[in-house]
Amino acid sequence: MTLVSVQSLAVRFGGAEVLRDIDLSVSASEIVTIVGPNGSGKSTLLRAMLGIQPASSGRVMRKAGLRIGYVPQRLAIDRSLPMTARRFLSLPRRVSDAEAAAALDRCGVGAVAERQLVDLSGGQLQRVLFARALIGRPELLVLDEPTQGLDQPGEAAFYQLIADVRAETGAAVLMVSHDLHVVMAASDRVICLNGHVCCEGTPQVVRDAPEYRALFGYGTQGALALYRHDHDHNHGPGLAHHHDAACDHDHSAPDHAAKDHAAKEYTAAGHAGEGHSGTGPHHA
Ligand SMILES: Nc1ncnc2c1ncn2[C@@H]1O[C@H](COP(=O)(O)OP(=O)(O)OP(=O)(O)O)[C@@H](O)[C@H]1O
Ligand SMILES: [Mg+2]
Repeated sequence: MTLVSVQSLAVRFGGAEVLRDIDLSVSASEIVTIVGPNGSGKSTLLRAMLGIQPASSGRVMRKAGLRIGYVPQRLAIDRSLPMTARRFLSLPRRVSDAEAAAALDRCGVGAVAERQLVDLSGGQLQRVLFARALIGRPELLVLDEPTQGLDQPGEAAFYQLIADVRAETGAAVLMVSHDLHVVMAASDRVICLNGHVCCEGTPQVVRDAPEYRALFGYGTQGALALYRHDHDHNHGPGLAHHHDAACDHDHSAPDHAAKDHAAKEYTAAGHAGEGHSGTGPHHA
């Protein structure tokens, strides 16, 4: 059953077309992960699918009454407002103490219930956001860089938690992640976005493709090479490929796969330090 889909979606900000020709759907129980460089439109796409960001053209469809848990990349509320984690979980809909405690416990932050949001560490806040998304038994979890700020054990535990939640509730997951190795292991489908859907496929398909070895086979530099998607690699026959003339790189050049990857750099600083203001939590 399709939970949410977009057809021929485009989003413009002023004169700038940030997303174009996007066709994407998420079915029940699927884990779909969007990867792509900074500014490639990942958050905008999630927001458009949630109905927070109006589309310039195209269609967005959601199953009637779809229950969504959303972890935004940035939090809209002013963190300096006095508000405990517990109270935050009751926005916008009141939840019982038992339900709140269970969600916080599950996310490893049971002890911070009565702490002010502003006093939480980045990782603790991220866990509280996820706890809030789990409340109300969502059919779809929409997670925008949900592991930002988590330490390494926390990150591993988080992906396990996602898998557990899906197994228990059948919730689908649509997430943006920069944790490429985990993404490949934990997703049913991976979508590479760069203003448009550059390529997509199951991790298996991607992994079996020669291009996967070029992209991921050389340790960290290989994985990070996916971010150089503007783009000096070619997509192989195993990858569904959605663009042609609009593409700014040559997909036919066979020796382009690993070219120059070692020289390219992607630093964590590129998507760190974005603060906590902006997009608000959303419960549909
Ligand atoms: N409200 C807005 N008004 C104008 N431009 C915007 C707005 N929101 C996003 N953009 C622009 O749209 C582009 C895509 O932004 P978006 O936040 O979707 O990227 P992203 O892929 O999520 O990046 P990141 O990895 O840094 O989170 C960027 O160039 C951004 O500056
Ligand atoms: Mg983003």
